[in-house]
Amino acid sequence: MSTESPSSSVGIAASGDNSRAPVGIFDSGLGGLSVLRAVRAQLPNEALIYVADSLYAPYGERDDDFIADRTLAIGEWLAKQGAKALVVACNTATAQSIALVREKLAIPLVGVEPGIKPAALQSKTRVAGVLATQVTLRSARFQALLERYASDCRFLCQPGHGLVQAVERCDVGSAELRELLRSYLEPMLDAGADTLVLGCTHYPFLDAAIRDIVGDRLMLIDTSVAIARQLERVLEQHGLRATPERTGTVPARFYSTDDGSHQQQLAATLLHIDATVDQVVIPSRRTAAPDSQAA
Ligand code: DGL
Repeated sequence: MSTESPSSSVGIAASGDNSRAPVGIFDSGLGGLSVLRAVRAQLPNEALIYVADSLYAPYGERDDDFIADRTLAIGEWLAKQGAKALVVACNTATAQSIALVREKLAIPLVGVEPGIKPAALQSKTRVAGVLATQVTLRSARFQALLERYASDCRFLCQPGHGLVQAVERCDVGSAELRELLRSYLEPMLDAGADTLVLGCTHYPFLDAAIRDIVGDRLMLIDTSVAIARQLERVLEQHGLRATPERTGTVPARFYSTDDGSHQQQLAATLLHIDATVDQVVIPSRRTAAPDSQAA
């Protein structure tokens, strides 16, 4: 994960009493809900606003400029809603765009990145698989991560084509999905991997399907709890932690750039949250034209 201090431009200043303002969490789609789940468990007093850019998911199939354009537009929208901090709960958007967003937003940011470091620390066979989007795997940030931590560990990097699309349609266990997963995971097992990095925030929702295939032969590395702890540290550093005003978890607000029905379904089935999801239009340079859905 990565963190940045506020620099300039859009957003509330991190001074005065902003502690009751919400934390914005954003993903290309539903995957960031796995991060939201960890944040709610770690920081139950924090109000959260979640945006799924599901109309334009998957980002992993988009060009770099499109991802940067959407990430910035949604970050600015969340800052205008009064978000005191932003979690870019998307490995692809972080890998591609976090530097740009850091320059433009005046609120603290927390990004996410595949758990290469914990995998290198924990793998006994020194062979680990990484499932992530093609954009994440080819990014300079990911290559730098590998160079830093992978000196004595072999990482088998596998683009998870089709997996984000499956989660977006709330498919976390069909026969077709299991077959796809098997085609990605069996070569890793054959190569002696004992660890699997879930390098996309959508993939923790596939943990049961993955477990059915690999049993306990692979240790799954999901960084969502570490991200929630990092958010806690960042809020503390900036004097932005919410103080408890009541018991229980503060309700979150959910938005989607599509009709939100799948977000509602996934939140109910996997997070046990009865969420009302509001549809929102967040224009951006690349999506302003009528035929804008093309990347
Ligand atoms: N959850 C996003 C990630 O962590 C998915 C990217 C996509 O939409 O392809 O990378």
